[in-house]
Amino acid sequence: AGTRTFTMIKPDAVEAGSIGGILNMITEGGFRIVAMKLTQLTVADAKKFYEVHAERPFYGELVEFMSRGPIVAAILEKENAVEDFRTLIGATNPADAAEGTIRKKYAKSIGENAVHGSDSDENAEIEAAFHFAGREQF
Ligand code: CMP
Repeated sequence: AGTRTFTMIKPDAVEAGSIGGILNMITEGGFRIVAMKLTQLTVADAKKFYEVHAERPFYGELVEFMSRGPIVAAILEKENAVEDFRTLIGATNPADAAEGTIRKKYAKSIGENAVHGSDSDENAEIEAAFHFAGREQF
């Protein structure tokens, strides 16, 4: 049991062959995989998913990056999942990410930062529903 968060292994990390290493850090971190798939966001999907950032100067770059290749989308379960997963992934900018975090090991830059983690329980629910039907969640 526990609470849920939503993650994506982003195109940079998939391209780099890091899916296995990142999933290993996630399961070693005590998260249970509730749903998972290899998929790709269309430009329209990426625009919608990142709508909250529409006014940011990096929005266009973010949409282009997130739609350029396959991603792994997953729902993760753990007590305190949202906060604990954000601790595991580390700071948005890998230069600021702590030792032992996923971004410290795998992220290339503030934009191409290897993984996504939901920032609230409410957004975790919205983001999970964006990618997965109820019957795909275990
Ligand atoms: P994430 O926190 O998962 O969701 C928002 C994303 O926007 C973030 O990861 C980065 O990929 C991207 N992002 C945030 N800040 C910048 C920035 N200054 N320049 C480019 N991309 C950014």
